[in-house]
Amino acid sequence: MTSPVPFVEQIAAVVDASLKTIAGLTSSEEVAQATPALVGKKSALSQLKSSMGSITDSEERKSAGQALHAAQTSVDAALGAKKSDCEATEMAAQLLREQIDITEHLVSGTSRGRLHLVTQATQRLEDVFIGLGFQVAEGPEVESDFYNFEALNMPKSHPARSMWDTLFVESEEPGSVVLRTHTSPVQIRVMQNWPPPIYAIMPGRVFRRDTPDATHMPVFHQIEGLVIDRNITFKDLAGTIEAFTKAFFGDDFTSRLRPSYFPFTEPSAEFDIRRANGSWIELGGCGMVHPDVLRAGGLDPEEWSGFAFGFGIDRMAKERHNVEDIREMYTNDLRFLRQFSS
Ligand code: DAH
Repeated sequence: MTSPVPFVEQIAAVVDASLKTIAGLTSSEEVAQATPALVGKKSALSQLKSSMGSITDSEERKSAGQALHAAQTSVDAALGAKKSDCEATEMAAQLLREQIDITEHLVSGTSRGRLHLVTQATQRLEDVFIGLGFQVAEGPEVESDFYNFEALNMPKSHPARSMWDTLFVESEEPGSVVLRTHTSPVQIRVMQNWPPPIYAIMPGRVFRRDTPDATHMPVFHQIEGLVIDRNITFKDLAGTIEAFTKAFFGDDFTSRLRPSYFPFTEPSAEFDIRRANGSWIELGGCGMVHPDVLRAGGLDPEEWSGFAFGFGIDRMAKERHNVEDIREMYTNDLRFLRQFSS
């Protein structure tokens, strides 16, 4: 008859087997399934624990207890380490599976949008005028009769009002609220709100009761310019228009002024620019700010003088890119719009 295996050796054998089993586990699911057999109530270690009562020698029982405790600790630790190992690996795999590549669109580049060519033209104009020392101002698109006409030296029933086919907005006092027909009303708002000297440009959307055709749209864009300072003369106006023309279109372009009439300027002019090939493009209107307009803006015409100008942005973008029909710019046909990258 073989003598029974000493208790401590039995423990060592169980620990050995347990660690081998743990080393072979490959997923947190396997860890969960194996746990009861390794450390549960029916595990080999628990069985050894319950058989400890049969050791009669107290010294022997004590050392067996210590060995059992150490065994339990090492199996627990190995199991815990395996569990977190498996979980980390599984989490990494899951992240990899579920990741979304948000750089895809940037990398391909094919679906990038671009600025509309009117926006591009507006931004270039702003850049050039800011370079000349101007600031940018904006005003409302729904405007009162006062700002759109009256303050610009066009009292009610002034015949010059018919220069603009006006769209009216329904209001308590019929005819008192309009969709602004030009950006000139912003001149008055700027004079009322900014202390002079003023060097401002005012881009924005304007509205006229026009039937769309190749050169007209009922909604289009203008940019207004206003300079108010001491001793401003017509020479300053002509010089500014020329400096702008060269900065915006290039050194081989030049400008000219032709006498004209606007109620808010005196004298008034229209300005054209000459292309490198010698042909002229009509650009807009300008002139010395009328004393009544300075007064409407709260300024003393004895102290301050100034000039103003205004022209269409859409028309300019059309010329620059040789667009035949201005309506093309507003049909949202991507094949058309994609030709003009910013
Ligand atoms: N507001 C005018 C228009 O819409 C353009 C214009 C002419 C603006 C003369 C000005 C100016 O500032 O001085 O036709």
